[in-house]
Amino acid sequence: MTSRESPYPPGSAAFPHRDLVGIDVLQPHEILFLLDEAAQWVELGRRPTKHDDRLAGLTIINAFFENSTRTLLSFEIAGKRLGADVVNMHAAQSSIKKGETLIDTAMTLNAMHADAIVIRHGSSGAVQLIADKVDCPVLNAGDGQHEHPTQALLDALTIRNAKGRIDGLTVVICGDILHSRVARSNILCLTSLGARVRVCAPPALMPAGIEEMKVEVFHDFNTAIEGVDVVMMLRLQMERMEGEFIPSPREYRHLYGLTEERLARTSPDTLVMHPGPMNRGIEIDSTVADLVDRSLITRQVEMGVAIRMACLDVLTRRTRKVEGWQ
Ligand code: CP
Repeated sequence: MTSRESPYPPGSAAFPHRDLVGIDVLQPHEILFLLDEAAQWVELGRRPTKHDDRLAGLTIINAFFENSTRTLLSFEIAGKRLGADVVNMHAAQSSIKKGETLIDTAMTLNAMHADAIVIRHGSSGAVQLIADKVDCPVLNAGDGQHEHPTQALLDALTIRNAKGRIDGLTVVICGDILHSRVARSNILCLTSLGARVRVCAPPALMPAGIEEMKVEVFHDFNTAIEGVDVVMMLRLQMERMEGEFIPSPREYRHLYGLTEERLARTSPDTLVMHPGPMNRGIEIDSTVADLVDRSLITRQVEMGVAIRMACLDVLTRRTRKVEGWQ
């Protein structure tokens, strides 16, 4: 599937969603529209001067109730490159610590007339809860085990830029699928754009019923990796695990780690991705993560800024009364 199938001209405001809570509600052409919109911001990001003031006068609040490096910083950079006033709210320093509820926090942000709110929260569904209460666009920066839509969009953009297409590719996602909102959003996004998606994990880290998401399920990584175009590794989310999900990190690496030996089972064109943060030496070895020709990991970070600029731009067009908004 190519960008020619996107029905929207560049700069169009005809995107029918106020919020970006999940990939699940996006049509393939809407995903392609966002990827196409991001192209201009990839180019801007590579210039010495990186400013476009189209969001000047708008206020964006990044409310993060969980830790983040990439998503928080890239949303902040995205908003600032577009000229918005960007404010970050870290839950650890907020009145959440004094017992304020999520809804009261949302109503407080709303009363400050934010023009967009970006939220990361540890509970699945928390972002939709806030979106239902506030008057401005809400962007999901990751909610529990539910979705991380901008991660999936930036991953799709990275793959499309590297391979020239997504339709017809085979992508294996390997690791802690059970706890991964990244896996869920990527499965929805990549299958929607015509990729074949394999998921691979030990049985304890594979969600029940995942076959219903149109994926092929593997427990043997050596089999799952054969013939793929992209290997997407996921972090073991120890912080979400209560009890024994894996025998030991060493055993896990042996069976599910992306090592040089395992990558050698693939074609030299097979590319490596990881959303970060990485557990080097567990799910991925440094010798693979740092491969200049085959690892897209730093490219994913670059695409993250561009995708977040595209999302902020598109979702604030109604507020900015951009011509053509219906
Ligand atoms: N990929 C990702 O969401 O990274 P952060 O947790 O650092 O934002």
